[in-house]
Amino acid sequence: MAVFLITGASTGIGAATARRAKEAGYSLVLAARSEAKLKALTDELGGGDDVLGMPCDVTRLEDQQQLFDRAVSAFGQIDVVFANAGIGANTAGTEHGDPEEWKAMLMTNMFGVMVSAKLAIPHIKKTKGHFIITGSVAGRRTLKGSVYGASKWGINAYGYNLREELKGTGCRVTIVEPGLVDTPFFDDPKPEGLRDDDVARTVIFAAEQPQGVELHEIQVLPTPPLEA
Ligand SMILES: NC(=O)c1ccc[n+]([C@@H]2O[C@H](COP(=O)([O-])OP(=O)(O)OC[C@H]3O[C@@H](n4cnc5c(N)ncnc54)[C@H](OP(=O)(O)O)[C@@H]3O)[C@@H](O)[C@H]2O)c1
Repeated sequence: MAVFLITGASTGIGAATARRAKEAGYSLVLAARSEAKLKALTDELGGGDDVLGMPCDVTRLEDQQQLFDRAVSAFGQIDVVFANAGIGANTAGTEHGDPEEWKAMLMTNMFGVMVSAKLAIPHIKKTKGHFIITGSVAGRRTLKGSVYGASKWGINAYGYNLREELKGTGCRVTIVEPGLVDTPFFDDPKPEGLRDDDVARTVIFAAEQPQGVELHEIQVLPTPPLEA
């Protein structure tokens, strides 16, 4: 059974992708910091031997090392890694932004993804596997003063660089770039946004392409509302 590892799996896009990946027949490795939420999700997904929940802070190299080691000892291989964990900032912009928040955000949205890639490479080289990144449309547009946007420009670009590094290995790299999605990322509901499952279906669509097809960069946006 192919193995699908997801960071930031406890809520939102990551949890929705876990549900879709289970439906598609993958064994799952689900990582996030909140143990209770991971436990609830693994129970929801049947709680069997094919779903492993692992507490992991992606900003900590040793946590990620344990995550990948545990995944391989449980399942023997890793086929798809979805580097999805990410956070925003409570204070917008640069002048009034909080550098401590920036540090946490860059460590999660960039360093965390890069560490996932480094640890994934030896395994996905063996399986001709797939590395999927949650970028953002915020990394394709100008958002005044946004350090979050800068982290996503950075990680979108990294997806391009990683693809070059993996050329000739049979591995594929996909950057999924959602627009607004109604998830716990925000304190308030975003009814005008996408549902988490809309992005999850896109991730599975990319993962399920035949080996010769690499969907490298995908923007997933809410359809603009009808005008009167
Ligand atoms: N919502 C949007 O409009 C939108 C649009 C474009 C892109 N995105 C991106 O989509 C991704 C998922 O976000 P979401 O909207 O689904 O929001 P979310 O529900 O808040 O999910 C974020 C996930 O990341 C995990 N996480 C955060 N920091 C972590 C860390 N240090 N180590 C491990 N896991 C960590 C969270 O779990 P724990 O707190 O349990 O660790 C949670 O599972 C993020 O990369 C975000 O930037 C979101």
